[in-house]
Amino acid sequence: MTAAPVYRPSVAAELLKTVNSKIQAVHVWRTLEVLRSIVWAFCHSSRRVHSKYNTLMHPIFRNTGIVGTGAMGRGIAQMAAQAGSEVWLFDVQAGAAEAARSALQTTWQTLVGKNRMEASQMEACLNRLRIAGSLSDLATCDLVVEAIVERLDVKQRLFVDLEGIVTPDAVLATNTSSLSVTSIGAALKRPAQLAGYHFFNPVPLMKVVEVIAGLKTSASVCQRLTDYTRQFGHTPVAAQDTPGFIVNHAGRGYGTEALRVVGERVADFATIDRILKDQMGFKLGPFELMDLTALDVSHPVMESIYHQYFEEPRYRPSVITAQRLAGGVVGKKVGEGFYAYDKGQAQIPAEAPAPVVAELPPVWVSPKAARRAELYQLLKDLGARIETAAAPSAAALILVAPLGLDVTTLAAVERLDASRTVGIDMMLDDASTRRRVLATNPATRSDMRDAAHALFASDGKAVSVVRDSGGFVTQRVVATIINIATDMCQQGICSPTDLDVAVTLGLGYPMGPLAMGDRIGPTNVLEILFNLQTVYGDPRYRPSPWLRRRGALGLSLTHEEA
Ligand SMILES: NC(=O)c1ccc[n+]([C@@H]2O[C@H](COP(=O)([O-])OP(=O)(O)OC[C@H]3O[C@@H](n4cnc5c(N)ncnc54)[C@H](O)[C@@H]3O)[C@@H](O)[C@H]2O)c1
Repeated sequence: MTAAPVYRPSVAAELLKTVNSKIQAVHVWRTLEVLRSIVWAFCHSSRRVHSKYNTLMHPIFRNTGIVGTGAMGRGIAQMAAQAGSEVWLFDVQAGAAEAARSALQTTWQTLVGKNRMEASQMEACLNRLRIAGSLSDLATCDLVVEAIVERLDVKQRLFVDLEGIVTPDAVLATNTSSLSVTSIGAALKRPAQLAGYHFFNPVPLMKVVEVIAGLKTSASVCQRLTDYTRQFGHTPVAAQDTPGFIVNHAGRGYGTEALRVVGERVADFATIDRILKDQMGFKLGPFELMDLTALDVSHPVMESIYHQYFEEPRYRPSVITAQRLAGGVVGKKVGEGFYAYDKGQAQIPAEAPAPVVAELPPVWVSPKAARRAELYQLLKDLGARIETAAAPSAAALILVAPLGLDVTTLAAVERLDASRTVGIDMMLDDASTRRRVLATNPATRSDMRDAAHALFASDGKAVSVVRDSGGFVTQRVVATIINIATDMCQQGICSPTDLDVAVTLGLGYPMGPLAMGDRIGPTNVLEILFNLQTVYGDPRYRPSPWLRRRGALGLSLTHEEA
């Protein structure tokens, strides 16, 4: 008798196996923000703009200088004035600071008009805004935030100049998205006084701010910026000075893995978008998101972070976006991206209706299926004829429900008739999703595919049928997001709490990646990643030590060592 094939080995055994045999290969920004703001506005369009206005008597910084009064500078100025600081606006471009002041006046007037702000508060805020004629007017500022052009040499020059103007204990802050805070500080006599202070666009609506410590930044500088952030009602998160800080780093998994799925021709763009929205609750599918941000923004960012991390496979960009960028098919703004646009509306191809099958075959479920009991219950609820014998009859539709593996591997390992074998993604509780996802293998007969489709759509729930894929669509995309996030914790880039907060507020994900991992179960996430590595042989899927250890020990992904 042949030994029963094992495709869901225990985590411990898999760890051992991996350690023993798989020591293999384990081994612009600004525009991104603009795009993120568009996405945010899209996702939160119904949200109130401002809920409260602090006119604090004792703001942490009494005099805040803002250098660069473009989109970001004026938003930061608004927050600082609302927190009760005197705000000095400086810009090299003649008239820019005045323009920022009058734009803020309009903003506040609008809020007063909507009864979201008192007229007296508006007056007080306006009176706190001053125009600086030169940098030296910022001499009394105890905080200067720069939001100027994203160039290392220009930012270094500015801070060197500012060091000669402000007092030694004044805090200097850079709103850079992509430059190293440590590199900017390297030009300074007092690098301890410089921190990253990364706001998102639009500043009043994006409620998270990354406070970034460069190598030499003093802890008290970060603490003061953290406290100040709370004073104007935003949520501060602490980040180490690493490429992408928290939000832009954690966001690497979603698009890159979806591109790999489409690159394998598992499913088309619209199907992948539908699956991720309906199964996980993402507000935008990855291809809708890339269309909104535009590939001239997002592809260079993918390349940049990949190279900044010295070709880390987890961040590997895709030839698909490189080619579409070269061809100018960059997204909604040009009317043509992953979707075609008509008057700004994406032309999303309609889903094919579920096939009509006169007589459904009996169904046999693999004993190794994930959530087998739930799958049986679902089949019962759908009125399926269920076979319970040890092996399927010659007529049966064979169902497998892998985690991380593809349907082909299961059919081969379990010695099933591949022509009658279809996979169903049971990673999530069926009741918690709005869509079921089935996968065929290259040998699956069309009548068996159609029977499975018809059966699982028979209660009216949406069904997508994709081609074979290690981990369908949701498993591999979500596991990639969780893996990147856990590795950020492993590297100490931020705390687990700050990671989930930053991603939820900064990227609008339905929950933080660590909460996602806990919901799915760290052991399941590990199993998906191990099996993805088996299917693809790609170190991209190697699990982070943070995830391995917590998964193996049955701990939450938010667990920190004592
Ligand atoms: N726009 C975003 O979504 C976003 C988000 C987070 C961080 N950032 C960062 O914020 C900074 C500003 O971005 P923005 O979108 O507000 O740019 P912007 O082009 O809207 O405004 C920049 C302003 O800085 C002024 N300026 C340029 N060089 C200057 C100098 N040497 N001294 C004084 N003023 C100078 C310009 O005249 C302009 O008014 C960049 O570092 C960017 O990476 C931008």
